[in-house]
Amino acid sequence: MEREMIIVLDFGGQYNQLIARRVRECNVYCEVHPYTIPLEELKAKNPKGIIFTGGPNSVYGENSPQCNPEVYKLGIPILGLCYGAQLLAHQLGGKVETAPVSEYGSTEVELAAGTSVLFKDCAGEQTASGNVKSIFWMSHTDYISEVPEGFVVTGFTPVCPVAAMENAEKKFYACQFHPEVVHSREGIKVLAAFVKDVCGCRGDWKMDAFVETKIEEIREKVGSGRVLCALSGGVDSSVAAVLLSKAVGKQLTCVFVDHGLLRKDEGDEVEAVFGPDGPYDLNFIRVNAQQRFYDKLEGVEDPERKRKIIGEEFIRVFEEEAKKIGAVDFLVQGTIYPDVIESGLGTSAVIKSHHNVGGLPDHVDFKEIIEPLRMLFKDEVRKAGLELGIPEHLVFRQPFPGPGLGIRIIGAVTPEKVKIVQEADAIYREEVKNFGLDREINQYFAALSNMRSVGVMGDFRTYDYAIVLRAVLTSDFMTAEAAHLPWELLDKVTTRIVNEVKGVSRVLYDCTQKPPATVEFE
Ligand code: XMP
Repeated sequence: MEREMIIVLDFGGQYNQLIARRVRECNVYCEVHPYTIPLEELKAKNPKGIIFTGGPNSVYGENSPQCNPEVYKLGIPILGLCYGAQLLAHQLGGKVETAPVSEYGSTEVELAAGTSVLFKDCAGEQTASGNVKSIFWMSHTDYISEVPEGFVVTGFTPVCPVAAMENAEKKFYACQFHPEVVHSREGIKVLAAFVKDVCGCRGDWKMDAFVETKIEEIREKVGSGRVLCALSGGVDSSVAAVLLSKAVGKQLTCVFVDHGLLRKDEGDEVEAVFGPDGPYDLNFIRVNAQQRFYDKLEGVEDPERKRKIIGEEFIRVFEEEAKKIGAVDFLVQGTIYPDVIESGLGTSAVIKSHHNVGGLPDHVDFKEIIEPLRMLFKDEVRKAGLELGIPEHLVFRQPFPGPGLGIRIIGAVTPEKVKIVQEADAIYREEVKNFGLDREINQYFAALSNMRSVGVMGDFRTYDYAIVLRAVLTSDFMTAEAAHLPWELLDKVTTRIVNEVKGVSRVLYDCTQKPPATVEFE
């Protein structure tokens, strides 16, 4: 059966991949391409529909991104969002101007739900005229002041006369708002109506199809070449490694650097899955570099210096291993979409460089970097991981930072402190799981404060460390709130830690949200 595809044409907005992800949620395959994609290439992909994204420009500005006008003659349905909506108006003969009042944030939009197929499933408050009022996310300073010939207005707000317009005959639709963001309460219904009712997609695509397609693509690209993968045991690099292993088998070598700053038993767990006794037929190299990292970190207290030392040493170890393996053609990275979103996508503005991107050496001798998960969001990566048969305990792991326990031990790192925090963290994780909360809390861990305090054990005075427990609820890790853990859980964990972990006499819980704190302590 022919694969249905929707193409998102990227005009430089921040939500481009989010649109693609929402379309995939409707079980329709979706790819993002720059708006400059040649017409022939676009036609060859045979899309069932095209979505124009938002973007930071004004359509009437000099050098503003415009789409090839031939696209409007292909007979393919088009949905323009925000800048994309204004572009439809501009290129098809309507008018776009600076709005007298800009609109940002959640906004009530009145929609012609009775007549427009795009809004037929919206079920907000009914108005006397048969329209529906629903909350959508707005972010614009320009607006469509005149619709092109053949279009009708299908949505408006008190300050935006054309919040939506359409030419149903030609299947051209436009929304000034962003249906793709979560704040748009019925946004997914709008996108689903476009994809299914306007474009006529069946919606039978699933993650297994993504996995199959990627495997084929990788095989073709790699040929008989050799592939190297830096495996951390985290979800992303594990899924990337298994995908590559299915595609190219023994041509893949995974290098796992144990820097001595992993969680308790983590190195062995990773080896059990990816090593020679695990289910995958790949070359696995575990480098036990613990002492090397401890030596470099000795006496270093400054968090940024610790991060730099750990990052640099990781690269050195990895390079040494890569050299031993010899001529490697491809490097695999488990980069996922949130890692790249803020590093700039070529068309959009750079907000900040993310610490996961570009963390590996670029002077190891390889032809190309393979990033099979670059398009996906975390939960999609997890779905792909399950499709690939990776054990659930690996697939649903919480995030763990590259510098590991090095940034969860405040102040200087020593092997003794690593042991303390590993033991405390293992108890905490075990009890969170026992209380059935391990999938509910997005990240939780124990850290070792640099504070020692007086206590009493038996009849003796003690002067030991305080462990700090952290648990946060967050969807994107940019902001987070402290989880309200049950007192019984905190009590149990506290009792176990002070009883079982030598060197700890106090347990504290971190109630701070992010901002002003961060998730990690350093
Ligand atoms: P913060 O502490 O910045 O953490 O609020 C947000 C998320 O990012 C993770 N994190 C890191 N991940 N290398 C990583 O790979 C790092 O240096 C790093 N610092 C923080 C953190 O665990 C949380 O999930």
